[in-house]
This record gives sequence, C-alpha cells and structure tokens, in this order.
Amino acid sequence: MTLLFCSNIDNAGLWRDALGRRLPGLSMRVWPDIGGPDGDPDDIDMALVWQPPQGVFAGLSNLRLVMSLGAGVETLLRDPTLPDVPLVRMVSDSLSDDMAGFVALQVLRWHRHSDAFDAAQKAGVWQWLPYRPAREVSVGLLGLGELGSAAARVLTALGYRVLGWSRSPKQLPGVEGFAGADGLAAMLPRCDLLVCLLPLTADTQGILDRDLFARLPAGAVVINAGRGGHLVEADLLDALDRGHLAGASLDVFSEEPLPPAHPFWRHPRVRVSPHSAAATHPSQAVEQVVATVTAFREGRPLANVIDRRRGY
Ligand code: NAP
Ligand code: GLV
Repeated sequence: MTLLFCSNIDNAGLWRDALGRRLPGLSMRVWPDIGGPDGDPDDIDMALVWQPPQGVFAGLSNLRLVMSLGAGVETLLRDPTLPDVPLVRMVSDSLSDDMAGFVALQVLRWHRHSDAFDAAQKAGVWQWLPYRPAREVSVGLLGLGELGSAAARVLTALGYRVLGWSRSPKQLPGVEGFAGADGLAAMLPRCDLLVCLLPLTADTQGILDRDLFARLPAGAVVINAGRGGHLVEADLLDALDRGHLAGASLDVFSEEPLPPAHPFWRHPRVRVSPHSAAATHPSQAVEQVVATVTAFREGRPLANVIDRRRGY
C-alpha cells in the first residue's frame, strides 16, 4: 500500500515518522514526486492531503481512499479529478480543543475590551471600562458540529448564553438550538456575538452578508473561523463603517494569504489571524489516520466520510 502526501503547510517528515512508527510497511510519496525513486503512480492507493492543487489526482488510477488533513473539504470537492472513492475528513479532539480556544479568545477579546486595554496601556492610561456579566451576553454559533459543539462547551463553561444554528435540530447541554431558515431568523436578533463554524457548501457560501448583518443587533461582533467564502467582504466593511457592527475577528479569507493591500489589515475594528484557529498536529491527528488506513485495509466501515450530496 502506498500513500501520496500533499500539503503546502503540513510537515511531510513528521507525518512520515508518525505513520511509519504505527503502520510499518506503509510506503509514502510526497507530491509532486508521485513516481518515487522506485515506483510508479499506479502503486498509489491512498492520499493524505491538505488543499492540494486542482488536478492532483489525475493519473492516479488506483486511488481507493482520500483522507483530508483538514476538517473542511470544499477545495477537494471542487477538484474534477477527485475520484469517486471515500473521502475522509479530519476529526480530532485536539482540533476541536484548539477551535474552542480560538472562539473563547475572540469572544473574550471583544466582550472584555482587550484591544481597548492594550491601547490604554500603550498610552499609559488607567482606564476602567464597564462590561456586562458573561451570563447576560449571548453568543450565536453558526454550525453545531464537531467544532461548534466544542466551542459551545467552552463558552457555556465561561458563563455565556449560547445559541446555536444547524441544518438539523440539535439538543446540546446549555445550548438553545435553532435550525433552518426560520431558526436563523429567530436567532440572529439575539446574538451579541456571532461565530461562523459552518462548512463551505453551496448553501452556506456568502451567508455572512448584508442581509444577515442587518438582522444582528446594533453593536454586534462577527467572528469567522469557517471559510473565507462564507463572508461577503464588502458587506462586512460597509456594516462596520456604518457603525452597525462593532467589530470582526477573521481567521479565514477568500484569498489566502490575505493580500498586503487588503483593507482588513488596517481596519481599526477588524482583527486578522492567518487561518490559524485550529491546526492539525501530527502528534494528535495520526491516530485518526492510522484508524482510517487500518479500517480501509481490513475492509471495515470508515468513520468521518464526507457525504458528497450534502457537501460536508
Ligand atoms: P461538522 O462537524 O461537519 O459540522 C458542521 C455543522 O454545520 C453541523 O452542525 C451542520 O448541521 C451545520 N451546517 C452545515 N450546513 C448547514 C446549513 N446549510 N444550514 C445550517 N447548518 C449547517 O464540521 P466541523 O468539523 O465542525 O467544521 C466546520 C468547518 O470549520 C469546516 O468545514 C472548516 O471549513 C472550518 N474549519 C476551520 C478551521 C480554521 O482553522 N479556521 C479549522 C478547522 C475547520 P448538522 O449538524 O445538521 O449536519
Ligand atoms: C482547517 O481549516 C481545516 O479545515 O481543518
């Protein structure tokens, strides 16, 4: 069995070591070297990839399994060369923990005036600012899957009121659940902060737009850690500049890296992070890949397979 590894951010050497220790006999090739020193592309039956270039699967006629190093797979689903084989995404406790931490960090940053205190310290000013108790602040989560439910657990532990929106109705401890278009309409006016943790699909593309922002209360904050394609950037800038939204934390962008001249970099009420909310660490994620490869080898059902009809 031969695995093709392709990622422009993940460390192939660390993955080779981690997989080699647990799956002796596994041969790994690192794209673009699909032939390897002593093999041919037909040996490759599995791929482990993060946002590979379009067309990466062309010529891999024996590919039987594609595993994503990330939780979101929209770029893979757009690739016309993706074969009709199981596509397994990354689900790990570590990824969920990291995302929950990122969401908590951003919620606290806006709610507890973190930027204002940083500015006051730079100016040498002792500036007390009033803030509402967490239990009077409502945080809305778009998406209550692996990451949204982990964020909900941390936010409820911090005392926030948590509201959550999903495609199918969900009941999570401490979370007021909403589903469908009516549910979204009911939830938005109650959100002091809104966090997007949706997968990018035909239904969710551009969901963070002028219409949605208008349904949030004045002074709301938007946090996007889903995908850049969820956000209509011009609509966000307009809502911020009119003063309807108080701020935004953005981790993902329609173009990454965010171009140097992009207005988000210098906007006083936009906080930018470089798609770093939750990363896949080999030490934490290798067990999921090993479990998938082992199940695949033994012909057992695979976990975390993407439903291509739903798009996530
Ligand atoms: P997941 O477990 O598949 O959960 C997705 C959630 O979104 C589910 O609750 C689902 O509803 C809901 N949803 C999907 N389509 C919807 C729609 N049309 N209307 C309402 N709700 C909808 O995904 P996840 O593991 O939580 O990951 C979510 C996304 O986070 C990924 O796809 C990726 O894009 C992004 N991500 C970002 C980073 C980062 O560093 N910024 C890191 C990892 C992942 P149901 O529960 O009803 O199915
Ligand atoms: C990161 O963005 C992921 O999808 O895991």
